[in-house]
Amino acid sequence: MATADKPKGGLEDVVATSSAICYLDGDRGVLAYCGYDIHDLASAATFEEVCYLLWHRRLPTRAELGDLQSQFAAARALPEPIQRLMRSLPPVDGMDALRTLTSALGHYDREANDSSPQAQYRKAVRLTAQVGTIVAAWGRLQAGGGFIEPDPVMGHAANFLYMLTGNRPNATAIKAFDVALVLHADHELNASTFAARVAAATLTDIYSAVVAAIGALKGPLHGGANAEVMKLLLELGQTATGERVDEVIRGKLARKEKIPGFGHRVYTTEDPRATHLRQMSQDLGKRAGSTAWFDMSQRIEALVKGEKKLNPNVDFYSASTYYTLGIPVDLYTPIFAVSRMSGWTAHVLEQYANNRLIRPRADYTGPVYPQRFIPLDQR
Ligand SMILES: CC(C)(COP(=O)(O)OP(=O)(O)OC[C@H]1O[C@@H](n2cnc3c(N)ncnc32)[C@H](O)[C@@H]1OP(=O)(O)O)[C@@H](O)C(=O)NCCC(=O)NCCS
Repeated sequence: MATADKPKGGLEDVVATSSAICYLDGDRGVLAYCGYDIHDLASAATFEEVCYLLWHRRLPTRAELGDLQSQFAAARALPEPIQRLMRSLPPVDGMDALRTLTSALGHYDREANDSSPQAQYRKAVRLTAQVGTIVAAWGRLQAGGGFIEPDPVMGHAANFLYMLTGNRPNATAIKAFDVALVLHADHELNASTFAARVAAATLTDIYSAVVAAIGALKGPLHGGANAEVMKLLLELGQTATGERVDEVIRGKLARKEKIPGFGHRVYTTEDPRATHLRQMSQDLGKRAGSTAWFDMSQRIEALVKGEKKLNPNVDFYSASTYYTLGIPVDLYTPIFAVSRMSGWTAHVLEQYANNRLIRPRADYTGPVYPQRFIPLDQR
């Protein structure tokens, strides 16, 4: 590769594929799924409607939505061997458990290697249904509880909270969690979706492709940031004074440490998902009788904006939102996957439908060619 072609690090600004799924304008702060603005979807659509939209590129009719809800209900329960495997795992990180269990799901799917579009679609539905059950059941097991069977009449958000806690969630919790799922469902060629598409482009099976995505999501520069945000808030402590918060954050910035939940490769203005999550964090805090985590988050936001001109991203206010909903911190990144499975599978199906192997080039910077080979006993 000639020096003039030297790439920016991290494939920044590289358009790597065409896609009809997600429209993103980072300068205007616009995010839309198949043309529908995220603000409209977050206000009025359910996660199930969004799944249908991502997979079919159009909103469902009432009958089509009913069919999808029935398919989810039929697929939600986990095969018994997956439940056994889950019980046999050591108390690992939630994302590690999710990676292993999602991979294992493929062993019990008779259509795992059926590459017909119809079978791929059915697998997308099953994966999206089952990943919610895996994460909720994992959370429950870690808390010392037993498996709770999904309720066929509850939607995806309600079922998740029910299987996690064993209690029927109230309407506010269901709505808040459903909106969080809608907001996280897709985000163009983010790192995990790109990983899924690269894997799918080899024509490997859909389970392998989404396991690649789960591995990428786990990292603290991507989905792992939401748990890091809450760890930071907890480290500061609910009773930390404003001065203490400022001191810790200023210290981190001075040491050039990254503040989790800030910055984005694409948005130069506010991430529209953060707008909703900020409001949700405040509303839920008020209902719960304390806005301490929200207030602390706002103080950090003001400081990081002032000092570094960085905006909060999707992960920043999702931390205090999930915490107020009573969700364990270890589940925050897995919950991102519960939602993003819809987007990953939509992209994998799109890749399969119009595939070419993804195989870029590297700018070689190693020793000059040719090096004289020295036999082992002469080195
Ligand atoms: C999201 C992220 C990976 C984007 O990275 P990127 O486009 O490669 O941007 P860079 O890491 O090159 O950052 C550019 C500059 O902003 C700074 N910066 C970026 N995010 C920062 C953060 N969260 N806290 C402090 N400084 C940050 C970098 O240190 C760098 O400063 P410099 O030019 O003085 O060296 C990055 O903002 C980040 O690591 N954020 C924290 C993790 C996070 O919240 N991830 C979830 C993303 S949705």
